[in-house]
Amino acid sequence: MEEQILLLKQEAINAFSAATKMEELESLKAKYLGRKGQLNSLLKRLPTMPQEVRPTLGKLLNQVKSDLENVFEEQTARLRRAELQAKLESEKIDITMPGLPFDAGNRHVLTAITQEIIDIFSGMGFEIAEGPEVETDQNNFVALNIPKDHPARDMQQTFYITSEILLRTHTSPVQIRGMRARYPRLPVRLIAPGTVYRRDQADARHSPIFHQVEGLAIGEGVRFSDLKGTLLVFARRMFGPDTVIRMRPSYFPFTEPSAEVDVSCTVCKGKGCRTCGGSGWLEILGSGMVHPSVIRNGGYDPERVTGFAFGMGVERIAMLKYGIDDLRLFLLNDIRFLSQFH
Ligand code: PHE
Repeated sequence: MEEQILLLKQEAINAFSAATKMEELESLKAKYLGRKGQLNSLLKRLPTMPQEVRPTLGKLLNQVKSDLENVFEEQTARLRRAELQAKLESEKIDITMPGLPFDAGNRHVLTAITQEIIDIFSGMGFEIAEGPEVETDQNNFVALNIPKDHPARDMQQTFYITSEILLRTHTSPVQIRGMRARYPRLPVRLIAPGTVYRRDQADARHSPIFHQVEGLAIGEGVRFSDLKGTLLVFARRMFGPDTVIRMRPSYFPFTEPSAEVDVSCTVCKGKGCRTCGGSGWLEILGSGMVHPSVIRNGGYDPERVTGFAFGMGVERIAMLKYGIDDLRLFLLNDIRFLSQFH
């Protein structure tokens, strides 16, 4: 029987060592070490053996049992390590693989144009100023020579919070705020981008919410030719070096004299086409020399200083620059539109 035991031991060791999976190892354990396993069936035969060899055989059986249990533990550890290794191998990340493409997004065309306008005027020494979208009737109208009953209010009807507080209809109130915040500093050169509101029905050319950039320069001896030169530089940087401008007499209560400024048509270069209605010119902004009472309302002395101001619509500049024909596109957030302006 001793030989049988030793043979069984060797067979079990070989089998345990050859196992490649945990389930396999478990079933081998049952086969050799289990309650109905082969070692136990030898143990059950022990009482049939001669009295004198029983203690030695018993001892041997116990020794083999604990040896095999050790081997089983060792092999379990071996398989666990192998499983982990295989898992690590299969989950290894290849850092040299190209990444997945993703949409990076881009600035809204109005943000980009506003920034472009700011950059151009920054280059000419203008600083950025801001004012609130919820403004007083005083700053939006009265201080700009538009008293309560003035007909100019008809063109700029707006949304009222109270009878004295409203959503600003233009960025011109920043002229007043900008001067007051800087007095007595000279010169004043500011550019004021921002959102404005008017009580308009939305269509291709109207929107109750749009954007403007205001410009203001106040100083001793500021002249109309300074206004013209400044705007010519702007028009050429924005629309191209061949651009020319023209100024047409106009009227704003807060400038005197006032002028509308046109640029040569960006599409036909002035020859006349559909975009410019055959005239060769496109209107881009309103401007003029700051009215003396506006200078006074800003805290400065109109006997000492003069100034110019202008205001342009950001949407309008974008439409002319990119040939966009419907104002509503700016608000629709259609990705097919937005992603065209990188
Ligand atoms: N605020 C005027 C408008 O919205 C534009 C303007 C600004 C005109 C400054 C002259 C001077 O129509």
